[in-house]
Amino acid sequence: MATARKPLRELKHLDHILVSEAAIRRRVAALADEINRAYRGKDLTVIAIVNGAIIFTADLLRQLRSPLRLDCVRASSYHAGTAATGKPVIVDNLKLDIAGQHVLLVDDILDTGNTLSAVHELLLAKKAASVRTCVLLDKKARRVVPFEAEYVGFEIPNEFVVGYGLDFNERYRNLPCIGVLKRRYYAGNL
Ligand code: IMP
Ligand code: MG
Repeated sequence: MATARKPLRELKHLDHILVSEAAIRRRVAALADEINRAYRGKDLTVIAIVNGAIIFTADLLRQLRSPLRLDCVRASSYHAGTAATGKPVIVDNLKLDIAGQHVLLVDDILDTGNTLSAVHELLLAKKAASVRTCVLLDKKARRVVPFEAEYVGFEIPNEFVVGYGLDFNERYRNLPCIGVLKRRYYAGNL
């Protein structure tokens, strides 16, 4: 993992870069290889949790080899700033029938585990044949619900991060790398 601590003066909320764009590119390619091997010859349905997962999903999917299907669910647990508000709100607006299907659930980050465990349960209740989870980032120290992902891009420390789909007050999702928010913006919330 690249941990170059470059100052980002033009981006006032950010302290340093935690994962560079190049490191993300390399890791996404390696994850795609692993997923391609696991699902070779199988019919795959990818479910992305929006908005956070859209950039990761877009990059990952273009490297997957199966003629997969894609759908999204919306989940929100951070209403403003960086403080989690307990149980996530899952908007079940899936268009695809996933009964009997192999599902790959994709999200930007596994944090407390509340969101992914709730969506995982929802997909099993809809009778998916199997559900595996792929996240770009894993903040293990923050887990509240016991949940692990089968495919993890990077394990990261307990800091609030933005970029590559992750936001702070809906900003910075477009940053091509992962940056760490200055501590004063999330002090007391993590
Ligand atoms: P959970 O706590 O595992 O349920 O994660 C819920 C959601 O919180 C994730 O899907 C992210 O959208 C968001 N989240 C968690 N940690 C961070 C972070 O460090 N930066 C930005 N968003 C985060
Ligand atoms: Mg999210």
